[in-house]
Order: sequence, then structure tokens, then C-alpha cells
Amino acid sequence: MAKLHDEVERRRTFAIIAHPDAGKTTLTEKLLLFGGAIQMAGAVKARGDRRRGAHSDWMKVERERGISVASSVMSYEYRGRAFNLLDTPGHEDFSEDTYRTLTAVDSAVMVIDAAKGIEEQTRKLFEVCRLRDVPIVTFINKMDREARDPFELLDEIEQSLALDLAPMSWPIGMGQSFKGCYDLMDDKLILMAKGSHDAPDGGQTCEGLDDPKLDELLPNSAVTTLREEVEMARGLCQEFDLESFRAGTMTPVFFGSAVNNFGVRELLEGLTRHAPPPRPQPTAEREVAPDEDKVSAFVFKIQANMDPKHRDRIAFARICSGHFKRGMKLKHLRSAKTLTVHNPVMFLARDRELAEEAWPGDIIGIPNHGNLRIGDGLTEGEELHFTGIPSFAPELLQRVRAEDPMRAKHLGRAVEQLAEEGAAKAFRTRIGSDWIVGVVGALQFDVLADRIRTEYEIPVRFEQAALFTARWVVGDDPAELKRFSDSHNGDLAEDHDGMTVFLARNGWHLQHTAEEWPNLRFLKTREQMA
Ligand code: G4P
Repeated sequence: MAKLHDEVERRRTFAIIAHPDAGKTTLTEKLLLFGGAIQMAGAVKARGDRRRGAHSDWMKVERERGISVASSVMSYEYRGRAFNLLDTPGHEDFSEDTYRTLTAVDSAVMVIDAAKGIEEQTRKLFEVCRLRDVPIVTFINKMDREARDPFELLDEIEQSLALDLAPMSWPIGMGQSFKGCYDLMDDKLILMAKGSHDAPDGGQTCEGLDDPKLDELLPNSAVTTLREEVEMARGLCQEFDLESFRAGTMTPVFFGSAVNNFGVRELLEGLTRHAPPPRPQPTAEREVAPDEDKVSAFVFKIQANMDPKHRDRIAFARICSGHFKRGMKLKHLRSAKTLTVHNPVMFLARDRELAEEAWPGDIIGIPNHGNLRIGDGLTEGEELHFTGIPSFAPELLQRVRAEDPMRAKHLGRAVEQLAEEGAAKAFRTRIGSDWIVGVVGALQFDVLADRIRTEYEIPVRFEQAALFTARWVVGDDPAELKRFSDSHNGDLAEDHDGMTVFLARNGWHLQHTAEEWPNLRFLKTREQMA
């Protein structure tokens, strides 16, 4: 099993988290460029360009699912390491997909716009990483623009995210006068080659900051400031400590300008040296170590296939342990059925041999007809329930109606399928059999309406439902549950699996009902029921 151990040790599976516009797409492209997967870089860029357009453009991109499947996972090799970069769909709206993707990574790069600092989405995504102690590498981007003072930025990150910071590079100037960085890891001066889109060379090695070479290469004032600032930074910040970083309490910080290819090599170098290999995965039964020889995997994302005429979907599964080979038979734990994985979509498809297999930390895409769901486990037989895959209580609820009553019958199936995919929550009211759809971000309603129209050919509209929130209702005493059910018929619905859901009209309604029925539990997520 030495081979398994070696493959685990060289895998680095990570995601980039950022507030929209901070430079995630640009950085992704540049990381791929440095990692040698250049042909893909164009695709990422094209997608990013369109995504910045209006909502309708974004939906068009969503529909071009070929692109999103291909760029959902981007794999490249750099200095003997096999990197898997998982794309987190990025738009202003809260996206569950993004959060679930973060359950499948072992580290994350947090991109911060140097002029803006920590923004709302950065903070939310960071909190999700923190829940699982995911180590974070910070990249302060856009140093070629007028930026905030580096000390002020570091202070803000430290204060607002409660993280220890360890600068790995230090910027020399900013905006128009941005010259480059001093690499504190390797004592190197790295100057930005302006106007060039080629990667800058490896930089000038120095014998520390006192090296007279610096005085030759930089204007006087810049060297003086650099020396002063680094001294101050070293006094104020802690030294990089691998253990603290891997425990998620310390973040190494790099400064750069992704659009100018600047600082990307150092970031990649930092990831290569410090980012952790695949972590053990928690399950309800035990922790699964990546170098166990039996294969195990869990599904963290479902994507409808590119062809709207077929109901195929791709389930993205992270390999948690063992050496996966194409054609392998795995037990699908929820259904207890055997699944032969004939045609997995692999992302290490640079050569044929690699495409036939996957190792812990890798992602495989499994085409299926809807039998695989988010959170499902696949093993060689052992009962393992993977935990920690977040599900969110819908914060916005609306009633969905088919424009054409003749198509209403088919609407239910469409809504159920989207719910199974994890794109929304769907509840069928006991009275009236209406479909109530629950989401966490308002933009999701537009996306859903668009998908139901194009993929199922049912034009629909969403209407206000005057509902506040939904809670799954469980209790230990079936008689009590029945009493509750009988007396609250008008407030109840079933989800796509037939579980009972209480639809609250407002906060008081929820609180009052919960107080009236102290022996029942009103759960925010179904996962809490497991
Ligand atoms: P996102 O995926 O996080 O939303 O950000 P994206 O990479 O799309 O970048 C957002 C904008 O910021 C883009 O400009 C991009 O070119 C620019 N950008 C990224 N990195 C840097 C940097 O280091 N310095 C500067 N000055 N700009 C940067 P845009 O005008 O929206 O698009 P484009 O026409 O330039 O592509």
C-alpha cells in the first residue's frame, strides 16, 4: 500500500473563497497557468467574463452545464504535487452549493481585495471553513491599485476573523508605485514585470533584508520603507507555524496582483509546501483515514446534466480512502444497492492512464438518474454515514405555479427532482397540494424558474406565500405526532421524501407552536434528524 500512501501524501484539494470581484476567477486562471493546465485557463476566464453580466447571462452560463461540469474541478500538477481546485460558484447570492463544496476540500485560499479588506461574502465563507477547521491561505490581491495600508489590512483580518497572521511576503509600494514583494519565506526580492503577461522569473535571492543588492535594485526610499515595515511586521505578527496553520488558527498571508501574474508563484509555492494532504473524514461510526485500503466516498454536489432532454445528473463525490478504479462496484449506503461506477467523469484526464483511477482527495463525477443525493456515502460494503455536510433551513418560501394548468401535473416531478438535486427545498401542502419552494437566496427563484422552463418545458411563476420559515417536525411518541398532525393540517406539508414539515407564518407562530408542543422537535434541517 506504499503507492496509496504516496498518492495521498501528494494530493492537495482546495478551493478559493472570495467576495465577488475580489479576483477569484483571475487567480484560478493564473494558478492553472502556473500549474501547466493552460488550455483550461481560457475556459475559466470566458466563464468569469460572462458571469459578471446580468442575471440572465449567469443563467445562460448555468445552462451551459458542459462548462460548469468541466470547470467544477480543475486538476493540475506542480512540483510533484497533484492539486485539485474545486470551483465554488460565485455570485452575490448565498449559495448552498458553495458551502457544500467546502466540505470536500482540505484547505482554502481566501482572496481579499486590497482596497476593500474583508467583505461580507468572505466572512460567511470563512465561517464555513472555520466550522471544519479548514486551513486558510490568504492572498491580498490588486496591490497594483490604490490599496489600503498593509498593516491596517492585516489588523482587520486578525480582528474580524480572529486568526493569527503570518506574512509570507511583504509588498513594496502600492498602486502606481507598486514594485513587487519581498519574499519572506525564501529571502528573495521579486519585482513585478509591468505590462508583461509572462510569469516573472523566480526573483533575486538576497542575503536577508540588509543585503546591499536591495539598495541597487530598489529606489532608496522604497528600501528604507521595506526594511522598516518588515521589521515592524515581524514584531507584530507571529512567525509562520505549520501546526497552527493546519489546525486552522493561523493564516499565511501573500500579497500580489493576480491580473499581473504577480505573487501567484509564491502562493503556489506556499500551497505546495504547507497545504495539508487529504484529511481523515468524520462519519457517525468512526473516522476514515485516507490511506485505508478500502474505497469510500461521499457525494457533496449534484449537477443536472448538459442535455436537458435527459434527466441524467452528475454526482460529485470526494474519494475519502482507498484506490478507486473505473468499473468498481460500490455500495450505495442509503439504498443498500450496489452501484457499478462504469463511466465516472474524471478530472485528471490529462492522459488515459490517470483517467482510469482516482485517489483520496480526488473528485469523481458519477452520472446517474437521480438515485445519488447530497450526503450519500459509497463504500466497499462498510456502513459509514458521512457527517458535516451542511443543509440550510430555507429562509425564503414561495408558491410555484405552472402558467399552463395542463402542465401542472408535471410540475411536481420537476420540483421534486430539483429538490433531490439539492437546488432548493420543496414542500407539498397538505391542503390544496400546492408546491412551496424554499431557498436561501432570492436569486435562486429566478434560476429555478429558468431551469424548470428550459429543462422541463414548464413555464412557471413564483408567488408570495406569506410564509416565514419551515421546520421538520419529529417526536418520539407517534400518538403525539398524530395529534399534532391532525390539529395543524393547514400548516403542514411534506418534503420530497414524505417527511412532515411545519410551515410557519411568522416568528411568533413558530415559537408559539413549539411552546405548545414541548415534546416535539422543530428542526431547522433534515440532517439533524439522522
Ligand atoms: P471574481 O471571480 O472574484 O468575481 O473576480 P474576477 O477574477 O472576475 O476579477 C474581478 C475584476 O478584478 C476583473 O476586472 C479583473 O480583471 C480584476 N482584477 C483581478 N485581479 C486584479 C489585480 O490584481 N489587479 C487589478 N487591477 N485588477 C484585478 P473587470 O474589469 O471586472 O473585468 P476584466 O474586463 O478586466 O476581465
